[in-house]
Amino acid sequence: MNNITFPKNFMWGGAIAANQCEGAWNIDGKGASTADVMTAGDKHTPRRITMDLEEGAFYPTHEAIDFYHRYKEDIALFAEMGFKTLRVSIAWSRIFPNGDDAQPNEKGLQFYEDLFKELKKYNIEPLVTLWHNETPLNLVKAYNGWASRELVNFFATYCETVFKRYKGLVKYWITFNEINALMRPLGNWNHGAIIHEGTEYFIHQKDNVNMRFQALHHQFVASAKAVKLAHEIDDHYQVGCMICYITTYPLTCNPADILKAQKEDHVLNLFSSDVQVFGNYPYYIKKYFKENSINIITNEEDDRILKEGTVDFYSLSYYMSVCTSEESKEEKVDGNIMGGFKNPYLETSDWDWQIDPMGLRWTLHHVYDRYQIPVMVTENGLGAKDNVEADGSIHDDYRIAYLRDHIVEMGKAIEEGVDLICYTPWGCIDLVSVSTGEMEKRYGMIYVDKDNKGNGTLARQKKDSFFWYQKVIESNGALI
Ligand code: BG6
Repeated sequence: MNNITFPKNFMWGGAIAANQCEGAWNIDGKGASTADVMTAGDKHTPRRITMDLEEGAFYPTHEAIDFYHRYKEDIALFAEMGFKTLRVSIAWSRIFPNGDDAQPNEKGLQFYEDLFKELKKYNIEPLVTLWHNETPLNLVKAYNGWASRELVNFFATYCETVFKRYKGLVKYWITFNEINALMRPLGNWNHGAIIHEGTEYFIHQKDNVNMRFQALHHQFVASAKAVKLAHEIDDHYQVGCMICYITTYPLTCNPADILKAQKEDHVLNLFSSDVQVFGNYPYYIKKYFKENSINIITNEEDDRILKEGTVDFYSLSYYMSVCTSEESKEEKVDGNIMGGFKNPYLETSDWDWQIDPMGLRWTLHHVYDRYQIPVMVTENGLGAKDNVEADGSIHDDYRIAYLRDHIVEMGKAIEEGVDLICYTPWGCIDLVSVSTGEMEKRYGMIYVDKDNKGNGTLARQKKDSFFWYQKVIESNGALI
């Protein structure tokens, strides 16, 4: 027992995303998405982006963990753990297979209706991401993805369709997953649905910084439009932003390092949510645009749209932190979308992501201090290799330790006044990794029998963390 008190209605749960778990990539009218043309890789082999499918290549999203056909079994397991909420995403190309279709695909709409009803059966509140790292592939081919303003309207049509259809079934929506990933060249494909000539590997993409920021502007406008539409369609709807927060410390107390860390924090972490929470571009970004010769085209109405579509809550993914310095250093670490310099006080995961629970507490204060709206941690977790014992048990004490330490720090942040309302650790069931395309980089409390090559029965198995998290939820955070 500890003396940490979580609020009475704290939303304990887990998070998954359509392309990483559903599979059924071309079933029941679904169109291909940007995620469906990424081959599998591993820590040493980068994923490839192939605009057309290559014979013999392995595309891990095509089957993923077959959640599309097994969601009832999986939701029953989430319910057994005591989930109050489940973060899922809708695959846009299941609803509008080409993105620009005149009519939605009824089978796709029905799938999510059934899914949300199944969740309701167990009193699990859906938390629905409208866009999670996948854009209908046709929109890349026909429009050059989010670089084109036309996607704003296609996205609005999609949002309007699902807001109307799921009225009464859903309350919480997130517009764009990790929208700030477009701040980095890696965001071109997954986030911007933009591909530049010469790009072959996901982690070494060609870049056009201006186009990337134009795409980001289009997503800001699309997000704001979605928020406004949601509120018009149902005034109970709560809509949030979602930021990939890479907490960045100055490596030393050299003031030059402090200023560098502040600048990186502004640009990489805070810029997007400043736009989405405050409804305008912040002062510091002008200099960054100037330094990088960024000149984006905006419409006259955009200022108004951004102001009218500010979000109701702030959400973030938090996995790790990095250090930055004016001086170049040799010891580097990897990370979610972005790495940095090694922090001598922290351990790293098998994938070289630094484990920093206290950094989460710092970050929660930092963003709540700034925005003063409810905060959700909608992704957090440890990607690790699991070992299945002869009797089928999986002793993932490393995952329990990671989650426990982060939960303790969240509890302290709440005690210190942060209005944190939700925690949905990532990949509560094993699923396909985005950065490497692996299955064996596992985050789940539920094991899925499938390896990196696609072999396995897909059978589900409870890990030790399953029973541990069940107790955490049951005791509302006290029994950790
Ligand atoms: C976030 C994404 O970037 O990190 C998830 O929103 C992703 O979709 C998660 O899976 C973990 O990253 P990875 O590369 O380990 O799957």
